[in-house]
Amino acid sequence: MLPPILTKKEADRIISKKEGAASLSLDLGISSATVLIKDGFVNIQKQKIPLSALQKIKEKTCYILEDNIPKQIAFFSDETSLYYKLLPTQNWPTITLSSTPMHRYSTILPKKDTELKIKEISPVKGIVLDTCCGLGYTAILSSKNAEKVYTFEKDKNVLRIAEFNPYSKELFSNEKIEIRQKNIFEEISQFEDSFFDRIIHDPPTFKYSPELYSREFHAELYRVLKKGGILYHYCPCPQKTKERKFYPKIVKQLRGVGFKKVEYHAESSGVRALKF
Ligand SMILES: C[S@@+](CC[C@H](N)C(=O)[O-])C[C@H]1O[C@@H](n2cnc3c(N)ncnc32)[C@H](O)[C@@H]1O
Repeated sequence: MLPPILTKKEADRIISKKEGAASLSLDLGISSATVLIKDGFVNIQKQKIPLSALQKIKEKTCYILEDNIPKQIAFFSDETSLYYKLLPTQNWPTITLSSTPMHRYSTILPKKDTELKIKEISPVKGIVLDTCCGLGYTAILSSKNAEKVYTFEKDKNVLRIAEFNPYSKELFSNEKIEIRQKNIFEEISQFEDSFFDRIIHDPPTFKYSPELYSREFHAELYRVLKKGGILYHYCPCPQKTKERKFYPKIVKQLRGVGFKKVEYHAESSGVRALKF
């Protein structure tokens, strides 16, 4: 069982209640729970947390309760020099890598963001390649109708954060999903030609993973996709680069390696492409 999670929203509810029972969620909104507040402490699943500790809970941060203390689901890695954090939203949380979010969460929430991506490769069927696992949302949603999903994540720190996320739980329990903690750029060559029915390519920004936008990698995506298969390629569109429009380069490159009917769809902020 995952440890209880609190955000500022739940902390404020407990603090304002002061005494007695408070209803809230301890799993970022999946289920509801009742906690008891008494004599300056709140009792949460056998833990006794001083209300003074809840006052220190910050906005835009998730906390797990461990040894009667709220601890941030966030850490710095010396190995990657990145700061990893689970960021709450109105529904599914996102993960930030040194403040860069891995899902859209302001104009559109991560849940909808993921649903739009999966819609692009619908009907989902057969064997799916999910190139970039992150919190596992694309892997989990595509597994609903796929036979098997191979999902790759090169950064173990991301998977460590996912382990705390109640919305990522199925990533680790669903037998149709195979997580490979590997770099997809290096590993894709191991798959036979025409191995996948669907590919969902959801890379971070170009700055983080330029290799995942290379012609070499796009050619590999084409090689491993079956005839009749569908590729969805997310195209990050940060405010600053909006004017420069990044997606036409991706469209051109995908056409260049053989993809057909290559179209940019603004709603999902990505490119859908077919292999004939
Ligand atoms: C935008 S997020 C993916 C979000 C994910 N699809 C989800 O549903 O949560 C991109 C992820 O790709 C990972 N990544 C970056 N380069 C990679 C590579 N070469 N191979 C595998 N994973 C990579 C990053 O660590 C990050 O977690």
